[in-house]
Amino acid sequence: MNILVIGNGAREHSLCWALNKSKIKKRIFCIPGNAGIQEVVDSFNIEINKKKILQFCKNKNISLVVIGPEQFLEEGFSDFLTNRGILVFGPSKKASKLEYSKSFAKNFLKKHKIPSANFREFSSYTKAEKYLRDIQFPIVIKADGLAAGKGVIICNDLSEAKKGLKEIMITKKFGKAGKKILIEEFLQGFEVSYFVLFDKNSFSVLNYALDHKRAFDFNKGPNTGGMGAFTPSKKIDKNLKKIISDRIVKKTFEGLKKDKIVYRGVLFIGLMITKDGPYVIEFNVRFGDPECQVLMRNLDTDILKIVKAVANDKLSNIKIKNKKLSTICVVIASMGYPNTYKINKQIKNLNEAQKIKNIEIFHAGTKNVKNKVLSSGGRVLSITAQAKDLKSARKIAYSAIKKINWRYGFFRKDIGKK
Ligand code: AMP
Ligand code: GLY
Repeated sequence: MNILVIGNGAREHSLCWALNKSKIKKRIFCIPGNAGIQEVVDSFNIEINKKKILQFCKNKNISLVVIGPEQFLEEGFSDFLTNRGILVFGPSKKASKLEYSKSFAKNFLKKHKIPSANFREFSSYTKAEKYLRDIQFPIVIKADGLAAGKGVIICNDLSEAKKGLKEIMITKKFGKAGKKILIEEFLQGFEVSYFVLFDKNSFSVLNYALDHKRAFDFNKGPNTGGMGAFTPSKKIDKNLKKIISDRIVKKTFEGLKKDKIVYRGVLFIGLMITKDGPYVIEFNVRFGDPECQVLMRNLDTDILKIVKAVANDKLSNIKIKNKKLSTICVVIASMGYPNTYKINKQIKNLNEAQKIKNIEIFHAGTKNVKNKVLSSGGRVLSITAQAKDLKSARKIAYSAIKKINWRYGFFRKDIGKK
């Protein structure tokens, strides 16, 4: 079968890499891809719109599409392709609202009694500002819509909150995503990214990973898309998994059913593990990045079987298995990320690093120009390593990074230490 993966991140590189290993006879394509993806599958750097993707699917006889980034799900690519007879791994526009409207997600959580921070929503700046004067800090202000992971402001006091509120609602820092805002109670604990597969009839936990959101060591600096991840973690024991399953995963599946929302794909549940148990911070309707990179390496079930089953509502036939190994991912980003950074800088010695045993390097912002790998984005490489325990995996990952010659990049040195 012919499969198309949409996206150009290290997440999509790891998906292509994992799909490639499937025993099922297949041909894999990626749009638009990057310098790493084009090494493993046929990549086409064409404009992504619904009509062009459909035409591509017809030309290449594609029967299954895997959608990486959330914006295409919000734009309804899944519905559009499904309605034209193409199987899709990635939820409908309606189901994707769990990510693209935080207000929708919070009301879903409340309605179905799934633990989550208390919140109030506001469309009026004056009313929101008045509310701020009566509450206790810290609090969290969130833009309702998609803001590339940046629409969340943690405020320690009233002056920070007023500044944040102004940025979102008056200066419109996040455009129309900030027309509506949420003011949430601040949750204390540690975060886990939980990944659950859903189809019309069933659900199955895929795995979890711990992300490192801040740019610099010791959780300093601005929030990013994620600077590293690992799985498993000693903090997530059997008992906690059972609680997460009972209080969150099952209730989410039942809630979707009650609300007549068919969800086909992976749901990324961002959890805060507090002293009172797990709380949902957010839903994302796609794989996380860099979480996906460690998930794909740890998976011991054929990913193509999984995505096919999900798209066909046959997930209950699949048993998910993960390797009993530790996997870590360290992201190398362009200096300056998540703010401004230089691009078009050559990265050397990647092959030397890739030669190290148990290393897989996934590309994000890279492009191939005349057989040279140049940087082309904020997050540039995901160095993943696998070993019997986390400590050994860390060592391998950092030894590979040492081989890479790219002085315009930076990475965190404490991934996997928390
Ligand atoms: P979100 O985009 O909703 O995941 O928020 C981004 C990050 O902000 C999360 O990963 C948390 O680190 C933090 N965050 C969001 N909501 C809360 C909350 N209610 N309490 C504490 N931290 C939060
Ligand atoms: N690593 C967090 C995300 O993908 O949203």
